[in-house]
Amino acid sequence: MTATQLESTVKSLLAPGKGILAADESFPTIEKRFNALNISSNEQNRGAYREMLFATPGLSEFISGVILFDETVRQRTSHGVPLTMPKVLAQQQITPGVKVDKGTASLPNFPGEKITQGLDGLRERLVEYRELGMRFTKWRAVIAIDEGLPNRIAIDANANALALFAALSQEVGLVPIVEPEILMNGSHTIARCEEVTNAALESVFAALFEYRVVLELMLLKTGMILSGAECPKQAEVGEVAEATLRCFRRAVPAAVPGIVFLSGGQADEMATLRLNAICRSSDVPWKLSFSFGRALQSPVLNIWKGSSANVEAAQAALHHRAKCNSFALQGKYSAQMENRKISV
Ligand code: 13P
Repeated sequence: MTATQLESTVKSLLAPGKGILAADESFPTIEKRFNALNISSNEQNRGAYREMLFATPGLSEFISGVILFDETVRQRTSHGVPLTMPKVLAQQQITPGVKVDKGTASLPNFPGEKITQGLDGLRERLVEYRELGMRFTKWRAVIAIDEGLPNRIAIDANANALALFAALSQEVGLVPIVEPEILMNGSHTIARCEEVTNAALESVFAALFEYRVVLELMLLKTGMILSGAECPKQAEVGEVAEATLRCFRRAVPAAVPGIVFLSGGQADEMATLRLNAICRSSDVPWKLSFSFGRALQSPVLNIWKGSSANVEAAQAALHHRAKCNSFALQGKYSAQMENRKISV
């Protein structure tokens, strides 16, 4: 695999006005989302849901790439001529990638801290994914903020795992999306979120440097700098944008081509509004984009509800959310864009 191929994957993922759809919910996560709507989380329903997402007409106007879960990489469509899901995306000119971590486990001796698993056998799995048509990978580390948390050991252990994942991905020709997620749960202030994110990013980039990861051939995925979800004083949109950009300028090397935001549990329209405020600043060395899961999918799932009769309306909702976020990347989003009602 040549650097040129990795470069072209980076370029396609960071295409102007486009973002990434994170549709890589693990079995427990998709089950939680489906259960809330009384949809049974079986292979068929998961396949039908994801096929519906990926077949959305015009999706590639605003979506450059999709992050898949292992099961989806191997599933075929159930409508028309059966195609593999990566093929459906390729037909839409959307770049397929895959989540390769195996979720989190508690870190021994550090109550409340998590370590991401999945390094064993990773090199072989990556080779297989590459053969299955994947072009990029994602690994998510989770850092919680609480009284006495996070500990330095948890930050550094996760940073080292992220760096090894990234090095292995580049070795087999896959662009790594390095994702340290600082959870928004808790009553902490926006200042505390900034402090922890800064520490986590510094540790991640120190590890990436030590493991000789090529920063130009990876993407960073992380959250916006926010007040904790239960903090009584919620920071204004402008404050979020300012703190997010300040934090990144301090901790993310200019060699990184792009930073893509996770939504982390923010309400969908609020995530778009904040993205818009952040992207209004052109004075940054990296491209900024979105890699939303919930903030793109929540309204879609609520309309779909597991019924084929709702597919068209659900796809219209996905197209609309993707479009709003695309406008936000250009700093051109406004609340008026939301007036459009989607009939079911
Ligand atoms: P959310 O946007 O729902 O946080 O999901 C993004 C993601 O990929 C988390 O790993």
